[in-house]
Amino acid sequence: MFARRISVIGTGYVGLTTGACLASLGHLVTCGDIDAEKVERLRRGEVDILEPGLAELVGEGIAAGRLNFVVGAANAVQGPDGDAEVVFLCVPTPMGVGGVADLSAVRAVAREISSLLAPGCVVVNKSTVPVGTTRHTSELLGRDDVAVVSNPEFLREGSAVQDFLNPDRIVVGCEQQDAAERVAALYSRLGASTVLTDSASAEMVKYAANCFLAMKLSYVNSLAELCERLGADIGDVTEGMGYDRRIGQSFLSPGPGWGGSCLPKDTEAMLQVSDSADFEFRLLRATIDTNTRQRQRMVDKVRVAVTGSRTGSLSGRRIGVLGLTFKAGTDDIRDSPSIAVAALLRQAGAELAAYDPSVPTGSTHGGLAGIDVVDSAVAAAKGAEALVILTEWPEFRLLDWSALAEATSRAIVIDTRNLLDPDVLRRAGFTCYSLGRR
Ligand code: UGA
Repeated sequence: MFARRISVIGTGYVGLTTGACLASLGHLVTCGDIDAEKVERLRRGEVDILEPGLAELVGEGIAAGRLNFVVGAANAVQGPDGDAEVVFLCVPTPMGVGGVADLSAVRAVAREISSLLAPGCVVVNKSTVPVGTTRHTSELLGRDDVAVVSNPEFLREGSAVQDFLNPDRIVVGCEQQDAAERVAALYSRLGASTVLTDSASAEMVKYAANCFLAMKLSYVNSLAELCERLGADIGDVTEGMGYDRRIGQSFLSPGPGWGGSCLPKDTEAMLQVSDSADFEFRLLRATIDTNTRQRQRMVDKVRVAVTGSRTGSLSGRRIGVLGLTFKAGTDDIRDSPSIAVAALLRQAGAELAAYDPSVPTGSTHGGLAGIDVVDSAVAAAKGAEALVILTEWPEFRLLDWSALAEATSRAIVIDTRNLLDPDVLRRAGFTCYSLGRR
């Protein structure tokens, strides 16, 4: 394998993981970011996101001289090892007005680097961007001698390094076959199945996959509700479904709704794209609506558990919340369904004390204003009329549930992730509500 000189623009989740992992595969990588202080920290090997294995990989890359950090895109494409042969764009594409992806960062970088790229260089778009953006980026660059390739990433937060180094597939899309092959070759050591296609199809794969995952979850959450009404058990149902290899066991856990920085943004963007293509994507609309409804359903569950009635008031009722991040194993609270449910409980008048292993005590940012973020599960439970589990942190299973039962004023648990064994809770004195369980 040839070691390539690679530049990565943007050191967020995707960029930093891409840079560190490509360096671990033997390439010479220079990562550029506009945040000078962050670059300083990264140079010292300090990684400020919670991602297993990432800090170690960054440290190894720096020590081996294969991973550098510089300020700005221009410095990154003209790195210390010489001009980049491949430039990865890993800048944010947040949800803009009306669910349309905001591409201003992609545009700004394209303008900044267009005259600096070495002839024959390949620019790779790794950010999730609407179909057609790769071609548009090529126009923005205005360089006939530079190919632009779409190479979407499929990393999950919390297992990004593992996912990068053990991918289910590599997808590379470009109108110029040789450029696509050069990008695919960067990953050759991983031995993954590779799909070579045009750029629009590669961009579509990413949206299609995330929307499908969202649909799977909305389906499971609906099934859990139906199980409750029919007296069936969702755990047994999904296990039975999952043995069918066409379905698979993963991504079948019901919860308070799907969230995070990707699924909500990508489903909305796909809906926008469908609308503008004059296609009514009803299945996707229903997937999103089901998810919105799921959050309210969790509040209804709490209401029934605490007040004994569907119309009872939660005003002034003290409720303990366990889990705020959008899933376990991350410190990311962006678009967290757990916080959305907590916010709805607040709106209904409940007084909330919340504990999450990765959210600092007293936090008020990101939708946490009005929620008392405390430093332990016992503190969240103190005087509460119910405990609501909103994120599936495995350590919650190991809590001293008898002590928690004593701390609460009424021993009620609403487990929106089906995380805990109801028998353990019952033995500790709790009345337990979960999703779609017998
Ligand atoms: C998602 C995709 O899984 C990745 O493949 C993709 O690369 C990434 O988006 C992206 O576009 O960058 P991520 O946002 O890290 O990854 O989170 P997921 O693990 O997919 O979880 C999304 C949401 O679904 C979370 O709120 C999670 O709690 C929920 N979920 C997941 C469930 O409720 N049940 C499950 O069985 C699985």
